[in-house]
Amino acid sequence: MKLTWFGLGVLACTSPFVAAAPSSRAPKVKHSIREPYGWTKHSVPSPNHRIELRIGLAQPNIDVLEKHLLEISDPDHHRYGQHLTKEEVEALVAPHDESLELVDEWLASHGIQEEDFTRSPAQDWVIVDVPLSLAETMLDTTYNVWQHTDGDYLVRTTSYSLPEHLHEHVDLVQPTTIFARWKGMRSTIFWPDNEIEETSIASAKQLAGTDVDPACNVSITIDCIRQLYNLEGYTPQVPESNSIGITGYLEQFANIEDLQSFYNDQLPEAVGTSFEFVSVKGGLNDQNLSNAGVEANLDVQFAFGLTFPTPGTFWSTAGRPPFKPDLGSTENTNEPYNDWLDFVLAQPELPSVISTSYGESEQTVPEDYARRACAGFMQLGARGVSLTFSSGDGGVGDGDDDPETTTCITNDGRNITRFMPLFPSSCPYVTSVGGTNNVPEIAVFFSGGGFSDLYFPRPAYQDAVVSEYLANLPQGTYEGLFNPNGRAAPDVAAQGRRFRIWVSGQPISIGGTSASSPTFAAVVALLNDARIAEGLPPLGFLNPLLYSKGLDAFNDITIGNNPGCGTQGFNSTVGWDPVTGLGTPDFQKLKDVVLQY
Ligand SMILES: *[C@@H]1O[C@H](CO)[C@@H](O)[C@H](O)[C@H]1NC(C)=O
Ligand SMILES: *[C@@H]1O[C@H](CO)[C@@H](O)[C@H](O)[C@H]1NC(C)=O
Ligand SMILES: *[C@@H]1O[C@H](CO)[C@@H](O)[C@H](O)[C@H]1NC(C)=O
Ligand SMILES: *[C@@H]1O[C@H](CO)[C@@H](O)[C@H](O)[C@H]1NC(C)=O
Repeated sequence: MKLTWFGLGVLACTSPFVAAAPSSRAPKVKHSIREPYGWTKHSVPSPNHRIELRIGLAQPNIDVLEKHLLEISDPDHHRYGQHLTKEEVEALVAPHDESLELVDEWLASHGIQEEDFTRSPAQDWVIVDVPLSLAETMLDTTYNVWQHTDGDYLVRTTSYSLPEHLHEHVDLVQPTTIFARWKGMRSTIFWPDNEIEETSIASAKQLAGTDVDPACNVSITIDCIRQLYNLEGYTPQVPESNSIGITGYLEQFANIEDLQSFYNDQLPEAVGTSFEFVSVKGGLNDQNLSNAGVEANLDVQFAFGLTFPTPGTFWSTAGRPPFKPDLGSTENTNEPYNDWLDFVLAQPELPSVISTSYGESEQTVPEDYARRACAGFMQLGARGVSLTFSSGDGGVGDGDDDPETTTCITNDGRNITRFMPLFPSSCPYVTSVGGTNNVPEIAVFFSGGGFSDLYFPRPAYQDAVVSEYLANLPQGTYEGLFNPNGRAAPDVAAQGRRFRIWVSGQPISIGGTSASSPTFAAVVALLNDARIAEGLPPLGFLNPLLYSKGLDAFNDITIGNNPGCGTQGFNSTVGWDPVTGLGTPDFQKLKDVVLQY
């Protein structure tokens, strides 16, 4: 039973703020998009369908939080490393009381009381599970089942409204207009692994110009990464005071038996150890060996193997397609990404570094959503957590799995070809990790890279090196295909091909920037170990340090390019480039740098 809008004037009078004029309570479009590329309307959702609405209240002090973050991440600032507490961050993202009251009042007008919804600790999100019909009334919209050309279904709408007086108090309501489907960033799997056989016959002589085992040119193991990134001889000193986290989505389960096989193969001293499993929103943990997740196993085996005995956490977040639009379904097709952020921001203790190997083409992520999620990463950075994200596996055309069915086409109605940067890699508050291959290292062809096209301008920390790269591009290069003023990615790189991992009891060889992100995160975890052992706080948001004091602590990658969207993509060059960023890490050099601040 819902109240009419007339009933609300009385409630509004109890607020200390001036009651809005009745006309401003009329629904007004809050967000609308064109029919998304690749999706068609399929059917009317079942009347039993429920939807978990996430209402994001405005965060009036988010710019203050950003100022804090930039100060505490700047190695030349006296506040460097003075991370904020959970409570301090929450106070800075808390909405105005007026916003809370007006949103509560609106919910009450639809029969939703305080006990029917949950709030985030900072009160900046209200989450309420409602029948779709009620969501449609509240948002003055009509949902449809949409089908993607590849068969996936989502229950979404292309437009929603809110009473006009709420517009300034609510940033967004989702899932409404978000058609993103977060993909794991792994590109190539060889199963069974025929490349591994070659390892044993690899020549005994060292690779030209390096001290690295020649077998590493064929198959990447824990030992190879240690040799390549100068980690040999470093043993974690304070594992009890440090930890590393891996996010898992899309029913990806990290199998413990496979981890033991991997350890037995590559790190015998770790056999018998495991990681902490954390379920988010009912995320499952299927330990059936046949259902092991390739992505999850890759991330867990390399991140936890490289940092052993530092404790590892794996979050399994539920909620995704495959949604089946069959009659009577009550399935919820929520959007899992912010569920993880909510969960983790509510934790008092967090790992010092977290790696994510999922992402989606920036243009499929609505602006309000992208900004809120990016603000969530900012909050984690302010609390001292370093975040690494895969830069993507489609070169400059990251929206793409298949260059034949290119999605390097804008969804803004113009249908023009543009490079497709990836989100969250395009958020300036995360560290985007591109890929390399071979020894000596060159850029791997699929390494995602480019420039935020829609939402995020180039942050100051990368201004100097990105300007230099752009100044050296031949005049008119790819004019009209990318936004040279956008946040540029990746920031750094790491090996992204021929990783030897175990899945469902077998060794396989796998590639993708999915491998690069946990590898780089592991290096960061070890840098944090070195800092914590010296009584220093962990690194937190990395980029301002990497782009200043860290510039010479990377192996510059100068060969290779990242084709996509029918072009050869960008070139890897001397200095920063949009294929491998600053390059791959040299742990000893980075350690010398990070112990100075
Ligand atoms: C390393 O592997 C690459 C790709 O397979 C090959 O082209 C290159 O010749 C190899 N390098 C050496 C030194 O064997
Ligand atoms: C494991 O999963 C496979 C495939 O999904 C299934 O056939 C098998 O019955 C499962 N085994 C157990 C013990 O549940
Ligand atoms: C853009 O593509 C969509 C989907 O294929 C199509 O419906 C629309 O008419 C196209 N618009 C233009 C301006 O070509
Ligand atoms: C990449 O390098 C090739 C070879 O030097 C050159 O022809 C091409 O113009 C370069 N592309 C870009 C985008 O810089």
